[in-house]
Amino acid sequence: MMNYSTSYRHKSQTQNHTRDRNNKRSAWLSLILFRFSLRDYGFCMTSLFLFCLGSLFYQWNGGPPKFLLEFRQYLGQSTFFDDHGPYPPRVLPFPSQVVYNRVGKCGSRTVVLLLRVLAERHQFTLVSSEIHNKTRLTKHEQVDLMKNISNLPKPFLFTRHVHFLNFTRFRIEQPVYINIIRDPISRFLSNYFFRRFGDWRGEQNHLIRTPGMKDFERYLDINVCILENYPECSNPRLFYIIPYFCGQHPQCREPGPWALERAKKNVLENFLLVGILEELEDVLLLLERLLPHFFSDVLSIYKSPEYRKLGNMTGTVKKHTPTLRALQVLYQRMKYEYDFYYFVRDQFHLLKKKIGLKSASTQTHQPSFLLNLPLATQEPEEEEEEEEDDEEEEGIELDDAHSWLVQP
Ligand SMILES: *[C@@H]1O[C@H](CO)[C@@H](O)[C@H](O)[C@H]1NC(C)=O
Ligand SMILES: *[C@@H]1O[C@H](CO)[C@@H](O)[C@H](O)[C@H]1NC(C)=O
Ligand SMILES: *[C@@H]1O[C@H](CO)[C@@H](O)[C@H](O)[C@H]1NC(C)=O
Ligand SMILES: *[C@@H]1O[C@H](CO)[C@@H](O)[C@H](O)[C@H]1NC(C)=O
Repeated sequence: MMNYSTSYRHKSQTQNHTRDRNNKRSAWLSLILFRFSLRDYGFCMTSLFLFCLGSLFYQWNGGPPKFLLEFRQYLGQSTFFDDHGPYPPRVLPFPSQVVYNRVGKCGSRTVVLLLRVLAERHQFTLVSSEIHNKTRLTKHEQVDLMKNISNLPKPFLFTRHVHFLNFTRFRIEQPVYINIIRDPISRFLSNYFFRRFGDWRGEQNHLIRTPGMKDFERYLDINVCILENYPECSNPRLFYIIPYFCGQHPQCREPGPWALERAKKNVLENFLLVGILEELEDVLLLLERLLPHFFSDVLSIYKSPEYRKLGNMTGTVKKHTPTLRALQVLYQRMKYEYDFYYFVRDQFHLLKKKIGLKSASTQTHQPSFLLNLPLATQEPEEEEEEEEDDEEEEGIELDDAHSWLVQP
């Protein structure tokens, strides 16, 4: 108490002292200002008068000239990103509706685990659909789902394995989309073995996942599947990632440039971020920056020992790498998927650069397993589209065990 009052008194003395000094200084200042102002006052008034006169003329002449109107319109409409990059959705100040239409086997389970923690910490609505095998919907189902989504309490993050839904088309407010993809062959292999042997949840897990799968199918050599053109290892099954970004249009599932271009356009126009799994930590970092009220702290959660224990368990077991020959065939068959993947990767690196993160990975446009080869001459490959009939048409998904049994 004593200490406090003495120090207070001391302080107020010093304050008086400085105030005196300030008074002297301001007297000087006002003298200087006065001298200046006599001269400048006239100048100022003249400007004001000229301005009023101009304004008067301006109104007599029928309002603002065209270039002024255009300039104002430009100011009103343009944004930082209009001028600096092709990311219109990123201007949304506080997106309160986020949809993560997660692509299968691209680390989505890891992210969903993180989201559970985040939803509790940041108090947003998290809805993670339990439907894993229905990525395309009828028009009626689409509208139904979009209405359900947009009626969730905001802020919300909705996630499901589902091809892009065009909210605008049905005059519902478009949410912000995010997603993560990975190297197409890695994704394919991960799915191939996951279907057969499940994951960390135990050896018995596959019996639940694909109970109808016959042993000869389960233990089918992946090289045989690829080189002998089994449907599971051919198009259109291999055309998997692009439809998630292209949308619900039937043509989005036909391997070709139409779907590819539409998917790319959509990434630019509707996705706030499409990350790549190979650089997951940077994806999380960007999410933290771009959607802080959903993803703050995500990186520290991801790196925490408690989470590591959980996240550790989402890997698929028993992967075998196909032969080089088989990989090359696969790469040829997935050329659109790779085109898209490289596009997304470049966009991702561009965004990282903008935000000031360094790109760790090399910019090669070939997967590493092909780089190690002496340059293989382009062998004539089998036709990409296998001509077997498309038993997949009627809503049988990649994950459906029985569809696989139809052989070429
Ligand atoms: C999806 O899986 C559920 C069971 O989880 C099954 O009842 C349904 O028939 C499946 N749908 C498709 C289209 O495969
Ligand atoms: C939408 O919500 C209703 C009521 O909760 C539910 O019955 C319906 O299955 C939902 N539709 C979709 C597509 O999720
Ligand atoms: C979404 O629908 C709108 C309106 O029909 C259309 O202009 C737009 O191209 C569609 N976008 C996608 C990606 O399908
Ligand atoms: C999981 O983590 C433990 C120790 O943290 C490690 O010994 C084990 O190999 C990991 N398992 C997998 C599948 O990565």
